[in-house]
Amino acid sequence: MNNTFYGKKILIAGGSSGIGLAVAKQAQTNGACVVVASRNAEANAGVIFKTIGESIELHSFDITIQSDRRRLLEFAGCIDHLVITVRPDMKSLLFQEVEITRAISAFNTKFWGQYGLIQQAQHFINDNGSIILTSGIAGEKIYKGFSTMAIINSATETLCMSLAVELAPLRVNVVSPGFVEPKPKEIREYACQFPLRKLASLDDVAKAYIDIMASPYQTGTITVIDGGARLI
Ligand SMILES: NC(=O)c1ccc[n+]([C@@H]2O[C@H](COP(=O)([O-])OP(=O)(O)OC[C@H]3O[C@@H](n4cnc5c(N)ncnc54)[C@H](OP(=O)(O)O)[C@@H]3O)[C@@H](O)[C@H]2O)c1
Repeated sequence: MNNTFYGKKILIAGGSSGIGLAVAKQAQTNGACVVVASRNAEANAGVIFKTIGESIELHSFDITIQSDRRRLLEFAGCIDHLVITVRPDMKSLLFQEVEITRAISAFNTKFWGQYGLIQQAQHFINDNGSIILTSGIAGEKIYKGFSTMAIINSATETLCMSLAVELAPLRVNVVSPGFVEPKPKEIREYACQFPLRKLASLDDVAKAYIDIMASPYQTGTITVIDGGARLI
């Protein structure tokens, strides 16, 4: 345990599993008071408490619903950092196979969800605080079957840069993960071709969020954590 975030409050939207939960764990280890929010955060309290202890605060909300976003912010109160790691329910499908309603729903969850939450959160975040959005390698490297995630992630990165200018002195950054554990066998085999020859662990990716929150002059940046996957 160290005290980098002693006295700081960090809200993690989409923090009940995966990357968000790993960020919650590291933030807490660094002394932060952490609020984790997702649709089933309270229902999954047992698993979350087991992973990171019971001092965490949990709140259930749906990022696509404006009144849920407002209630979450009122619950969290004044915060220092807002991290958003919500993932839409979107399978890999070729463009011609994607039902447009599914694509719109994914956009609503990940892109408009981040957009709406940040718009409503502005007055809840301390001036010397920060916002971290999440994009993903599909925004930068083109893979068949990921056209919808590609445009969502690219839009997220452009939003980050616009907000870094408009919301200053609040800092706004984005983390772009590559391929993160756990993954099926064929993806693990593909990862052997990366310069770092393996998938990222959840902790590898979470560390990027922690470093950005602690980096007082960093804004408008895209931090890529992909083991070099985009280069092959
Ligand atoms: N994992 C990877 O390999 C990878 C690679 C590149 C990019 N990314 C990006 O990294 C981010 C996190 O991914 P992950 O793999 O950690 O995802 P994950 O384990 O599936 O976690 C997603 C989180 O989002 C929450 N969520 C989903 N829909 C929501 C909604 N409508 N309202 C509120 N919360 C919602 C989930 O909880 P509930 O179900 O309780 O709502 C959960 O806490 C995503 O943006 C993803 O696109 C991940």
